[in-house]
Amino acid sequence: MLKSRRSLLSAIAAGFIVGGLALPAFAAQLTLGFAQVGAESEWRTANTQSIKDAAKAAGINLKFSDAQQKQENQIKAIRSFIAQKVDVIAFAPVVTTGWDTVLKEAKSAKIPVILTDRSIETKDPSLYVTMIGSDFTEEGRKAGKWLLENYKNPGDVNIVELQGTVGSAPAIERKKGFEEVIKADPRFKITRSQTGDFTRSKGKEVMEAFLKTDKKVNVLFAHNDDMAIGAIQAIEAAGMKPGKDIIIVSIDAVKGAFEAMMAGKLNVSVECNPQLGPQLMDIVKEVKAGKAQPKRINTKEGVFPMETAAKEFPNRKY
Ligand code: AHR
Repeated sequence: MLKSRRSLLSAIAAGFIVGGLALPAFAAQLTLGFAQVGAESEWRTANTQSIKDAAKAAGINLKFSDAQQKQENQIKAIRSFIAQKVDVIAFAPVVTTGWDTVLKEAKSAKIPVILTDRSIETKDPSLYVTMIGSDFTEEGRKAGKWLLENYKNPGDVNIVELQGTVGSAPAIERKKGFEEVIKADPRFKITRSQTGDFTRSKGKEVMEAFLKTDKKVNVLFAHNDDMAIGAIQAIEAAGMKPGKDIIIVSIDAVKGAFEAMMAGKLNVSVECNPQLGPQLMDIVKEVKAGKAQPKRINTKEGVFPMETAAKEFPNRKY
């Protein structure tokens, strides 16, 4: 028995979607509440744009909130979406832990939750429907593999690491994947590791500090391109040549990284695709129509060394 006019309209709309037909004029528009991490990087800006464009193209009413990299802001946004009775909630969790209470509130309100980009740690996987995003551990492995295969100088290799936001899935998993691969060769050692919070300004600041205290830095592994670009400025200010005196490996493959590679200042960037919007909107519609989803949907990604940058640059969309 359908309790309200809204439920009746949603049920009819779902029937049209399942049947592959265009929605009739009277069908209720779906409302999606999306709680974004922030605007910390070029990657994030592209991700936000993809979500906004895709919602518009799919005819979904988007309520968008920017948490400025703070978990408490994301929790507030999710509570406000619950109070507004949105149809679906999606969010890219700033950190992995501390979500159970608010997700239980969404579950009690019968609002399905989709995770995008970053995963969470929970003992109760029923608190979310699915997670769409990159395999961050694999990205870390690809970065480590490129380094082992391409670093040709003899002797010990001192690596400094700029980590992403403390407690975030990409920081934890990229580190894990990279370490897993480099431990195969005892010459390669992480001598310093600190967070740069995924931003250019912090990447620069932390790299400056590394260069002041460390006499020999051979490699920088940055968990994202923005921190690598900030670090490039610090390396140049210290009178060294980024990409030559210090080999730089980073992750995202945004346009800024391609520009740095074409200038010979960044050696490789492992791709992390921010264009999750169209896939998210399809899943929002399917979830509302009652279609079962796999628990994890991975995006496909490549690796772009410096030598391929000029050829690839015109094809880049972010
Ligand atoms: O969660 C994805 C990561 O977050 C991107 O690699 C980074 O640039 C962003 O801020």
